[in-house]
Amino acid sequence: MTAEEAIASRRSIRAFLPTPVPRADVERILDIAARAPSGTNMQPWRGYALTGAPLRALTEALVAEAGAKVEAEYRYYPEAFFEPYLSRRRKVGWDLYGLLGIARGETEKMQRQHARNFTFFGAPVGLIFTIDRRLEIGSWLDYGIFLGNVMTVARGMGLDTCPQAAFAPHHRTIRAMLNIPANEVVVCGMALGHADPAAPENALVTERAPAAEFCSFQGWDR
Ligand SMILES: Cc1cc2nc3c(=O)[nH]c(=O)nc-3n(C[C@H](O)[C@H](O)[C@H](O)COP(=O)(O)O)c2cc1C
Repeated sequence: MTAEEAIASRRSIRAFLPTPVPRADVERILDIAARAPSGTNMQPWRGYALTGAPLRALTEALVAEAGAKVEAEYRYYPEAFFEPYLSRRRKVGWDLYGLLGIARGETEKMQRQHARNFTFFGAPVGLIFTIDRRLEIGSWLDYGIFLGNVMTVARGMGLDTCPQAAFAPHHRTIRAMLNIPANEVVVCGMALGHADPAAPENALVTERAPAAEFCSFQGWDR
């Protein structure tokens, strides 16, 4: 698979097969992903890779506190959504719920689907990523490149992922269970494994605005 094919074929997968992923493969993905550039080569990423019993223990603790009033240590989304972001957010939400047969107003079903995040959607590997809270926004920029690499490299190895900000608000429980030091902020989680091809939610293909729409090309004749 070329890098272009790996990037173009990646999708957020929300139902996984139980097929295990060996530690060597997870380590290889992280080793290659860490070739990501970072300002002055600071490499701000820090990860916790879980499978088996530790994964089950975290999952059970988080499923038990799903719906609790918890808050992330950083803001991912704006307080009020505005266009074009509001429409895009709504579209992906309704497209996903549509595939799952969840209709408007079925809040309980929506909450249950959200809680599936905490099982890493059944993936055999759960990753939790953290960053030192003393680092600045530039390091978060570096972090995004690293996370993108993780997903691309995984795809190149025939694996699937789902990046998951849903974990960030549950940092207290995650910190306690994984012995995460106080100076680290939970950035996000990520499910890693083999997609379940029969799961309806995995049929979701999201749209993108084309480059000609989001980029101003200057200096070309046409
Ligand atoms: C940092 C980050 C956090 C995300 N958090 C979640 C999440 O908590 N749960 C989820 O189901 N999807 C999550 N997503 C997936 C997005 O919804 C998805 O990337 C977007 O809709 C585009 O779809 P695609 O990844 O299939 O191309 C997250 C994506 C990113 C990049």
